[in-house]
Amino acid sequence: MTAVSLNRHKIILTRWDGTLYAFSAECPHASADFSKGWISRYKVTCPDHQYCWDVRNGRILWPDDENYRLKKYPVKVEDGIVKVKIE
Ligand code: FES
Repeated sequence: MTAVSLNRHKIILTRWDGTLYAFSAECPHASADFSKGWISRYKVTCPDHQYCWDVRNGRILWPDDENYRLKKYPVKVEDGIVKVKIE
């Protein structure tokens, strides 16, 4: 898990099973910083309340009665350069 800043957006980059994923470093629950959290396989965990999300689709994994989603960004690698599309 790597945190980068792009146009005042803090983004988390991570790779799972050969695919690169990019999402906002700001937790959708209460704005904690994911860069202080941890990731295992495709599951990112927030450091504040330990909510977990699936980086592949942005869906919450725990607690399963909540509906927050990761803010994901399109990402690709071209000529060895990581490109993230932010609005
Ligand atoms: S701030 Fe991330 S789970 Fe609450």
